[in-house]
Amino acid sequence: MAGTLKYMVTGASGQLGALAVDELLAKVPAAEVGALVRRAEAAAPLEAKGVTVRVASYDDPAALNAALEGVERLLLVSSSEVGKRAAQHANVIDAARAAGVGFVAYTSILGAEGSPLTVLPGEHVATERALAASGLAYAVLRNGWYTENYTMGVATSLEHGGMIGAAGEGRIASATRADYAAAAAAVLTGELPPSGTIYELAGDDAFTLTDFAAALSELSGKTVGYTNLPPEDYAAALEGAGLPEPVAAMLADSEKGAAQGGLYSDDKTLSRLIGRPTTPWRETLKAAL
Ligand SMILES: NC(=O)c1ccc[n+]([C@@H]2O[C@H](COP(=O)([O-])OP(=O)(O)OC[C@H]3O[C@@H](n4cnc5c(N)ncnc54)[C@H](OP(=O)(O)O)[C@@H]3O)[C@@H](O)[C@H]2O)c1
Repeated sequence: MAGTLKYMVTGASGQLGALAVDELLAKVPAAEVGALVRRAEAAAPLEAKGVTVRVASYDDPAALNAALEGVERLLLVSSSEVGKRAAQHANVIDAARAAGVGFVAYTSILGAEGSPLTVLPGEHVATERALAASGLAYAVLRNGWYTENYTMGVATSLEHGGMIGAAGEGRIASATRADYAAAAAAVLTGELPPSGTIYELAGDDAFTLTDFAAALSELSGKTVGYTNLPPEDYAAALEGAGLPEPVAAMLADSEKGAAQGGLYSDDKTLSRLIGRPTTPWRETLKAAL
């Protein structure tokens, strides 16, 4: 696979990756931007934007080696396949090293080490350690929660006149995917930070799920209450609603961690990186109605 690409974004068929491609295109010529997808059929919308698409699964070291040839700066968007991610990211890191990639930015999780969440951070910590051991120049984008994780459920909440969760009075300093994508593009295109730099990224404002339900009630004109459940009961309710057991357990664990402050940070690094305030959660909620 020939040709030099200044920038490459993995997971480019996904929501965050596609936004990161758009943010790069707002800053640099399309000829400098590459997009990695695992399904060839995901290439067309990206090619329509003028970027170079390469195809490789995180599970396929040979394809990754070819796909990362000539890449100078790589945004490694974490895989969505929880449980397989540490090995998949290690494949990407090995391929980046073999290809001589000059810089890797990896999307991790807020607080990674020491987070009270127990399911999601492990694979991110393993990847951060693999990067540190790789000899590659890198930075870690420890993304907080997406506001969209909550706004995607508003139709169901309105239908039921209520929301359930297990985050208690834990505050959630979320931002939109677009905010995190802008930060990734800023780091990738800017003067490179010292290798090993960790950015803890969170929204400028925060909410509890009680706040969220109150705002949803106010903005929709329909009363939506919030019921806080013990994490086991919340997991059982999610399974009852049809979610697979590991997904329900992961979501309940994340809410339990949120109750202990795991999704909160008053670090304003995200707004500093993007040069504007993060998108207020109420604005994202309003737009979702
Ligand atoms: N901070 C948060 O609140 C939050 C929430 C959810 C997830 N995340 C993490 O952040 C990542 C990006 O979020 P998102 O919303 O953009 O997720 P998404 O829309 O599900 O996108 C995930 C991307 O990863 C790609 N992918 C999955 N397995 C792969 C493999 N084996 N090889 C190559 N590519 C693979 C997917 O490709 P396909 O299009 O082919 O599936 C897709 O492009 C997620 O993957 C997850 O690690 C964070």
